[in-house]
Amino acid sequence: MGQRIALVTGGLGGLGSAICHQLAEAGHSVVGTYTSDGGRVDKWLGEMKSKGYTAHAVHCDVTDWDSCVAMAQETRTLAGDVDILVNNAGITKDGTFKKMTKESWDRVMRTNLDGVFNVSKQFVTGMAERGWGRVINIASVNGRKGQFGQTNYAASKAGIHGFTMSLAQEVAKNGVTVNTVSPGYLATEMVMKVKEEIRQQIIDQIPIGRLGEPEEIGALVAFLASQHGAFVTGANFDINGGLHMQ
Ligand code: CAA
Repeated sequence: MGQRIALVTGGLGGLGSAICHQLAEAGHSVVGTYTSDGGRVDKWLGEMKSKGYTAHAVHCDVTDWDSCVAMAQETRTLAGDVDILVNNAGITKDGTFKKMTKESWDRVMRTNLDGVFNVSKQFVTGMAERGWGRVINIASVNGRKGQFGQTNYAASKAGIHGFTMSLAQEVAKNGVTVNTVSPGYLATEMVMKVKEEIRQQIIDQIPIGRLGEPEEIGALVAFLASQHGAFVTGANFDINGGLHMQ
């Protein structure tokens, strides 16, 4: 198998970056999307290039259809046709249901769930026509088990796996696999935003006794993206240190 083109939404973030590194390490050319630059883009590109990886960064607001269309066009020009899509972009806006505003609900659903549709629409038809493709959707342990303070986030992440199983059935015959990866609590900025006391209570419930490393998720994503992942489709992978077992 030659070098493939991989696109990772939110590719410059804590988990996204680790996924990009692992895909690049597997020999793929990587495109990371970002919403805000703030000096992050040059830093990320510098790191990727210093390791000898082929990498590009493209702006994309996954909540905005037109932005996704423009991103797909730019990606094609910069890198070529996307073979591997990792829908990783996601946000939290935690709060008990009682306090949750409509804005918090909408922002999370638009980003985490509509974003998966908006971006997948740009690439999946092309993959099916070419007879090879990989879609890997990043969900969460909290979409599997629910979490106090995350009705919005848990609903969006649970919804992702319904999308995965349905699309997997539609494109299986075209050489395209679609899978979900559901990470647990990782040592990333998103988890560090949770108040220390609450975070510690959560860590105390993880049988392995620590937060996960983003690279531990990236390695599974790279496997699913590989040729050896060809028989895996419509599946969900829990990587959560034992926090939730099913
Ligand atoms: N179960 C039952 N009751 C709980 C509870 C729980 N897990 N947590 C808190 N409560 C209770 C509190 O004791 C409190 O009770 P009283 O009113 O009787 O005192 C009440 O519920 C209100 O709770 P808080 O004081 O915590 O309310 P708050 O508004 O200050 O905070 C919150 C709410 C921000 C949601 C906070 O609970 C929180 O941060 N929870 C953790 C959310 C979380 O895990 N987010 C994950 C982010 S990372 C991520 O999402 C990545 C991933 O995929 C894993």
